[in-house]
Amino acid sequence: MSTERTITLRVNGRNEPGSFPAHRTLLEALRQIGHMEVKCGCEKGDCGACAVLVDGMAVDSCLTLAWTVEGAEITTVSGLGDLDALHPVQQTFSDGGAAQCGYCTPGIIIAAKAIIDAHPDPTEDDIRLGLSGNLCRCTGYTKVFEAVEEAAAIMRAGRARP
Ligand code: FES
Ligand code: FES
Repeated sequence: MSTERTITLRVNGRNEPGSFPAHRTLLEALRQIGHMEVKCGCEKGDCGACAVLVDGMAVDSCLTLAWTVEGAEITTVSGLGDLDALHPVQQTFSDGGAAQCGYCTPGIIIAAKAIIDAHPDPTEDDIRLGLSGNLCRCTGYTKVFEAVEEAAAIMRAGRARP
């Protein structure tokens, strides 16, 4: 008897069915169905590379069982924008050199989106606290913080889509 169960994850506005055992994490499930933009780092909640939005909240997908978020709106970094219409956070990270090797970037951009949604005019403390679960080995964080501030300013000014 199979221990797998078919569930439907709603990812970036699309229903995506998959067959997973009960212990499959959301990180593993998303990558299994093709969302390789969700990065696998520590798999224990330390690095934030795997962060996605679940009903608007940034969560570590490696600490979330896939079946527990069936029916929730899951957003990966690819759901925020694309090459033809980057989200302001994606744009400012690209323009400002806030991504170097890029491995942490999908998770940091997701965390940044959650920060700006909660704090449209974020203080430095808001940004530091909101990114405290995301590790980056390359940037030294200064350019990351600047990119989040700039994205928030763009969004406040309504210069780009939310
Ligand atoms: S892979 Fe999930 S927090 Fe590191
Ligand atoms: S850009 Fe390399 S780990 Fe963050």
